[in-house]
Amino acid sequence: MKDYVMTTLKTLTCQKRLFDIPPHVTYLNAAYISPIMTESAKIGKKAVATKMHPWEITINDFIDLPKKACAIMSKMIGAEEHDVALIPSASYGIGIAALNLPLKRGQKILLLSEQFPSNVYPWQVMAKACGAEIITIARPKNGDWTTALCNAIDQDTAIVACGQVHWIYGSKLDLVKVGKTVRAMGAALVLDLTQSLGVMPFSVRDVDPDFMVAAGYKWLLGPYSHGYIYVAPRHQNGIPLEENWFARKGSEDFSGLVDYQPDYEPGAGRFNVGERSNFMLNPIAIHGLEQLNSWGADAIEAYVSKLTEKIAENAKDLGLIVADKAYRSSHLIGLEFRQTMPKELATVLAKKKIFVSMRGNTMRVSSHIYNDEHDVDNLFSVLKELL
Ligand SMILES: Cc1ncc(COP(=O)(O)O)c(C=O)c1O
Repeated sequence: MKDYVMTTLKTLTCQKRLFDIPPHVTYLNAAYISPIMTESAKIGKKAVATKMHPWEITINDFIDLPKKACAIMSKMIGAEEHDVALIPSASYGIGIAALNLPLKRGQKILLLSEQFPSNVYPWQVMAKACGAEIITIARPKNGDWTTALCNAIDQDTAIVACGQVHWIYGSKLDLVKVGKTVRAMGAALVLDLTQSLGVMPFSVRDVDPDFMVAAGYKWLLGPYSHGYIYVAPRHQNGIPLEENWFARKGSEDFSGLVDYQPDYEPGAGRFNVGERSNFMLNPIAIHGLEQLNSWGADAIEAYVSKLTEKIAENAKDLGLIVADKAYRSSHLIGLEFRQTMPKELATVLAKKKIFVSMRGNTMRVSSHIYNDEHDVDNLFSVLKELL
């Protein structure tokens, strides 16, 4: 008889108590920037204070902090520790991918329409330099971007660059399917998971991207100017964006730094940003990642999906357009107005301390583990009055 391993999903409750969100604030805007936890802020203050006493900063601090951040991130994405490096922004990571992927005249780079600019500008520059073409996949009416994207991938496709969730509309992509289609055509897959990592399950083992990047200041509950890149082993001999000394082999021996080294650190080590040891940001980032890993992305997704479901139902009742349930994410949803959005909406919401993002004619509402049903009720009490 076959053995079955039963895994049960943890049921999470609202974790607002871990954050410093006052009762009069309705913060439905993690897609813009998330709060860090109160404990992370304490850890951060302590970390800032170490700079008052630099004599207490040891060589191990230089080595262990970034290593730990990479190790926890690799756990989150099912990678090996040495496949992950630290970067200051998603755009830095996409820059690494663009520098290392082959592209020939006449080939195509596929992007989604209205994709975040960090994952567009580097491709525009690369396409121009190589005589390649950018193909933008239009937004499908029902939000099924997976089918539209997979249908567009052909033998001339060199690179597909997208996310797991559209940053404005919240439409989700099935990256396992996209990854399979990309590989079948011999193309490369570059992922910007800034709007999903931490709150949506993802594994490099299932998707096999060439590069994956994520900024840490949104869903990863981390600080600004701190993010991650996963580099598939097949690209780990590539060219880094900068030649920082700490990425060279043996650099932890500070007494031998002028024995200049031709070799880099193993794995993705060469792609780390200069000054990756960042004593102030790494401890905050590490605490956020550890907490997320202990909850688990699938459990967080299950928690926020109930809120997003309620948001979608309320929005539909008000005549707003939302993507079909099968194609929308559980944490980020775009509510599109049929007519022009009322001008006073943003001001009224801000006055009531209700925070969402306006992107064009779409209101983006994003829920994290600190949100609850009251937040949704607060938002819709205002919308019902105005619409
Ligand atoms: C999808 C996506 N990627 C990346 C970023 C941030 O990019 P960067 O880290 O290059 O500033 C954002 C910010 O809103 C985003 O929505």
